[in-house]
Amino acid sequence: MTLQSELPVVADRRLLDVSGIEVVYGGAILAVADVSLTVGQGEIVALLGANGAGKSTVLKAISGLAAADRATVRQGHVRFDGQDILGTAANRLTKRGIVHVLEGRRVFSHLTVEENLLSGAFLHKPARGELLRQLDDIYAWFPRLKDKRRTLAGLTSGGEQQMLAIGRALLTQPRLVLLDEPSMGLAPTIVQEIFRIIVRLNREKGVAFLLAEQNAALSLAHASRAYFLESGRVALEGKAEDLAQRDDLHHIYLGSGA
Ligand SMILES: Nc1ncnc2c1ncn2[C@@H]1O[C@H](COP(=O)(O)OP(=O)(O)OP(=O)(O)O)[C@@H](O)[C@H]1O
Ligand SMILES: [Mg+2]
Repeated sequence: MTLQSELPVVADRRLLDVSGIEVVYGGAILAVADVSLTVGQGEIVALLGANGAGKSTVLKAISGLAAADRATVRQGHVRFDGQDILGTAANRLTKRGIVHVLEGRRVFSHLTVEENLLSGAFLHKPARGELLRQLDDIYAWFPRLKDKRRTLAGLTSGGEQQMLAIGRALLTQPRLVLLDEPSMGLAPTIVQEIFRIIVRLNREKGVAFLLAEQNAALSLAHASRAYFLESGRVALEGKAEDLAQRDDLHHIYLGSGA
């Protein structure tokens, strides 16, 4: 132990390492020009920026879902746990511990809340007892989902659907959750509740989060570090607490009305 702690361990702690990626849609539209970022083991990192800055595209490039939108990563690399993952299919990456919760709470609206959760759990094909234990664990994190377990997901509130999308992702046993705009369109109290759960999941289960958000103040209050994107490039990065002190950021990156 003593010997190990004297070695430089920074690289080992780097769970995700994105370096100089360029992402193009349909071979023509440059969405991400040059983005480098890292997420440490068990860290919450925010990816901030206005509409069209490239946040969702960066997440898709990491999770392997870019291909489904005819986007290709033309430059740079993406490493997870020290291994190159660019070009790896999304379902294989989920097995390795990266899960992407898409923008807009895409739950299966015609299935019940519990059926939606089970769709996440089946990735690792757990035995029935283990499956029930995992479901109970999710219901402990999200008691609202337990109350609605037999309700069709399409009939639950926006906040419940966001919790469901996160709960389903957690059932894949991730080490890194790519979470796209969890606050979008939700009332402030629900958003606070969701962010409190994210922070607890991070502290108690050690799950790392890369959180794409337009809401900078909210994200800086919950993340340890943040990157601001502007037109597909990292315009600013730093510790969340330092960035949160800067009054000018809303004007510069999110428009004065934000
Ligand atoms: N499927 C697509 N096909 C073509 N261009 C796209 C596609 N998705 C996004 N883009 C373009 O890529 C750029 C980055 O979009 P992206 O969705 O990554 O931004 P964002 O930061 O997530 O924005 P928002 O806050 O609105 O979600 C934009 O110019 C957008 O128009
Ligand atoms: Mg987006």
